[in-house]
Amino acid sequence: MTNRLASGDKLVVASHNPGKAWEIHQLIAPYGLEAISAATLGLPEPEETERTFAGNARLKAVAAAKASGLPALADDSGLQVEILNGAPGIYSARWAGPSKDFSIAMQKVADEISMRGGWDAAGPRANFISVLCLAWPDGSNETYEGKVFGNLVWPPRGGNGFGYDPMFQAEGATETFGEMEPDEKYAISHRTRAFAAFKAACLAGIQTGPAKPSRAMEIEALNAAAANLSTQAELSRFIANLAADVAADATAAKEGTCVAPALQRVREWLGDTDCSEEMRWRLLAKALLAATGRLKNA
Ligand code: IMP
Repeated sequence: MTNRLASGDKLVVASHNPGKAWEIHQLIAPYGLEAISAATLGLPEPEETERTFAGNARLKAVAAAKASGLPALADDSGLQVEILNGAPGIYSARWAGPSKDFSIAMQKVADEISMRGGWDAAGPRANFISVLCLAWPDGSNETYEGKVFGNLVWPPRGGNGFGYDPMFQAEGATETFGEMEPDEKYAISHRTRAFAAFKAACLAGIQTGPAKPSRAMEIEALNAAAANLSTQAELSRFIANLAADVAADATAAKEGTCVAPALQRVREWLGDTDCSEEMRWRLLAKALLAATGRLKNA
């Protein structure tokens, strides 16, 4: 019999990936569960030594539940490309290398597909998969799986989401996950589908509250995006979201009036500039020059 969670329970979100942790927080928020991230508790990030998504999700959730004495929810997820026999699969994060740069990972996927002649008109078939695991401090656990199928596109499109989102177009969609607004992605994503199975088993009967994000969640979203962005489009989108947030922040109205136009200038400059060969720190320095109206040859 599955253990159930109740409104007000504390739940550790056992992911050190800020993009995933934020998405899981979003899913949990309406249920009145108090989500605490593994990073906040200072829990170590276990090495993913298993050969399956379920095995790795279990490994992360059980480790966090035992270390914290609280129930813990972990996700293991990835991109599976048919013509690559399911790769990058459980190694999806590792294809981005130590710098976790997903523009590199996406290029690698595109190159591997090219070597197999897989870029046909429809684009190679692929799916995202998410396996959620809820574990309890005594080590008991359950896993829940969700998938979303579609095709890959090249070049990547859009600055929303994270990871491989800009190169994945779900079945029936005309936009990539990177182009969709977050709500559109959540409506169909693999993680939402895994969450639906988790919800049916563990959250049934809990009254949902208002879905309006708290200020802390909004700040967390911006920080998750900053920690995850890999492409120029994602940086541009990030700056637009930051500018909107600053402009809408009533408690910092004064700050908002001077910072928002500066952010807008950076975004306009990025839109007009090919920065693909630019070193990251130089790019940041130039962005700051653009923000202060001091960039030459903009
Ligand atoms: P892990 O589950 O932490 O091992 O990492 C899974 C990796 O799969 C992430 O780092 C992303 O690269 C990729 N991934 C998982 N879910 C998504 C998603 O919703 N969008 C884009 N990439 C994803």
